[in-house]
Amino acid sequence: MTPQSPLTPTISDAKGHELRAQALLSKMTLEEKIGQMSQVTGGSWHLPQDIQEGKVGSVINEVNVETVNELQRVAMEESRLGIPLLIGRDVIHGFKTIFPIPLGQAASWNPERIKEGAKIAAVEAASAGVNWTFAPMIDITRDPRWGRIAESLGEDPYLCGELGAAMVAGFQSDDLDNKGSIAACAKHLAGYGAVESGMDYNTVNIPENELRNVYLRPFKKALDAGVATFMSSFSDLNGVPASGNEFLMKQVLRKEWDFKGFVVSDWESIKELSVHGYTANDKESALCALSVGIDMEMASTTYADHLATLLEENKIKLHEVDTMVLNVLTLKFKLGLFENPYTNPNEFPELVNEKHLQAAKLSAQEGCVLLKNDHQTLPLSKQTLNSLAVIGPLADDGYEQMGTWVFDGESRHSHTCLQALHDHVGDEVDIRFVRAMETSRSKSQHEFEQAVEIAQQSDAVVMFVGEESILSGEAHCRAEINLPGNQAELIEAIAATGKPIVLVVLAGRPLTLAPVIDKVDAVLYAWHPGTMAGPAIAELLFGLVSPSGKLPVSFPRAVGQIPIYYSKKNTGRPPSWDNITHIDDIDGAAVQTSLGMSSFHLDAGFTPLFPFGFGLSYSQFEYSDIALSSNRIVLGDTLNITAQLRNTGAVEAQEVVQLYIRDLVGNVTRPIKELKGFEKIRLKPGESQTVSFSLHTDDLAFYNQKMQLVTELGDFHLWIGGSSEAELFTEFEIVETL
Ligand code: BGC
Repeated sequence: MTPQSPLTPTISDAKGHELRAQALLSKMTLEEKIGQMSQVTGGSWHLPQDIQEGKVGSVINEVNVETVNELQRVAMEESRLGIPLLIGRDVIHGFKTIFPIPLGQAASWNPERIKEGAKIAAVEAASAGVNWTFAPMIDITRDPRWGRIAESLGEDPYLCGELGAAMVAGFQSDDLDNKGSIAACAKHLAGYGAVESGMDYNTVNIPENELRNVYLRPFKKALDAGVATFMSSFSDLNGVPASGNEFLMKQVLRKEWDFKGFVVSDWESIKELSVHGYTANDKESALCALSVGIDMEMASTTYADHLATLLEENKIKLHEVDTMVLNVLTLKFKLGLFENPYTNPNEFPELVNEKHLQAAKLSAQEGCVLLKNDHQTLPLSKQTLNSLAVIGPLADDGYEQMGTWVFDGESRHSHTCLQALHDHVGDEVDIRFVRAMETSRSKSQHEFEQAVEIAQQSDAVVMFVGEESILSGEAHCRAEINLPGNQAELIEAIAATGKPIVLVVLAGRPLTLAPVIDKVDAVLYAWHPGTMAGPAIAELLFGLVSPSGKLPVSFPRAVGQIPIYYSKKNTGRPPSWDNITHIDDIDGAAVQTSLGMSSFHLDAGFTPLFPFGFGLSYSQFEYSDIALSSNRIVLGDTLNITAQLRNTGAVEAQEVVQLYIRDLVGNVTRPIKELKGFEKIRLKPGESQTVSFSLHTDDLAFYNQKMQLVTELGDFHLWIGGSSEAELFTEFEIVETL
């Protein structure tokens, strides 16, 4: 503690933090206040001096612990008031131990697993002096062209909300002051995942009703989970860029939700307000962002450059600045930084230790989704295989398997699939490997012949295809989302050998697999699984564990179907198999008046290739005996739902039981299905379990035309099952009185 610290650290409750922040604020000059609202990048030669002069509240992207400690020392000992720094870093899916990309983690549908991953990421990052991460990204996205879908938790507000809250809990623990806890940041408020044509930074138009019913829901969940900070989006929402959007930042976040923490801009997103054409210059941008309540500016310096003048000109008020500085200071007190600004890495567990690696393996394993398994091609067996051909550009590439947003992970820690397969089979199975393509984008067919040759010589083939990490992530969007390069041709060439083919796809997004799906026998979708991709996948391929991942996004058959998601509206002309026509079935000679007159594509129908929530197992599960506590409930009451789940297959496996509802009539039309609950359950062969859910009528509320959050009386459908195509069905009604 420095002599200047305003109150003793014994006051540690929320009020205490605020009081200490207020006492400190009362001593600050305007320049020092503006300093607390500024986040600057690490590495510049004048940074120590700027810190000394009180011009810096936070540093982003400095993770050398000695440097971080030195910067904290300057802040604590050489700046006038001794205010420690927030050290921010994008710890998105691990720090050194890399977990699957968030979309891959979401495919586990396992909040506990996700929480554990975030906790480990926090501990590792904290050991380098990081005390603030810019995660979770809880932008709903229904567009796999968008590169940042990799960083998302998928298409559904309920799933995203639950898993985002789990990440917040993992990063922050139950007290930010705990050793190894770091502040989380819910980003990007809001709508960023709906950028037009899935192109990054693009325009977003979302009607307010949809914004509230879909896009904002996970953010409210994160707030309820106690997330310390929010980040404003780069994108423009309905004509107003998020970093200057009063509706989002003031009306919703502060007024309706009563958020007490702080909001950071995205990287230069305040400065970019003028590039959007929303303000004329940096000074107006600073005015605009401050007026809507962006507490801290990331990377650009419009606050540092213009807030003082804006105050002099009476365009902003000192109390507005004070509120923001208080928000920032309060977080620093909550994190315990005034008492413990320095980091001693020796007080933390070793990086990439065995426990962390095991957690990363389980996370990768639970996120792999088995999409196809004809003739029980999987699991492979050492007993029946003498030889195995391993083919593809992603089989043995420790870097690419980590995926996007990896600043600190190192490929030297990665266990690749090829290595793990060798480790698993030892000399019991003869493994032959041909990479066949230098990268997933390669056009050369140079090595195809060798690949075909080893396929011919082997009992089975496992192909590791997909996308390298650089093809997804920020500003890495694609207009076509097929297997890039000549991978489809490679699959075709191998398929011609007639050998059983298992396709393992490592990718940052759903790819359009329609052109290749019929050429292979099994498909395991692994996303970018991280450091432990190899052991996770090898154990799945050889059946040590059954796949249990379920899709957190729908997989389109073709790009033209996008956006395709399960919770669509019914429309006035819903499609069904008997009211659509396929383009190949149009009678060329006849004049046809109707091809179905319903909502579908002539060349792609109306269903995805694989639906939301889908994923196979090596076992089978039977759902039965759905029962409700009552089929009429009164507003304000809770409905209890049970069903039986039975493992009817031959192996122990986990199943994600999913609960969906449909509100049949609404003041605004309701989706044909909405996820309202899920639980991951492990059962031995022959074992069954009663699965229970409870739904309060508030869980069925939605924003109506007047933007009121209401639960309406009336009829509901309810399904329980293993995907969004769940079939076990019942009905209930919400009534005023019984
Ligand atoms: C991204 C943010 C990220 C920030 C800091 C921006 O480009 O949009 O999500 O947290 O950079 O790295």
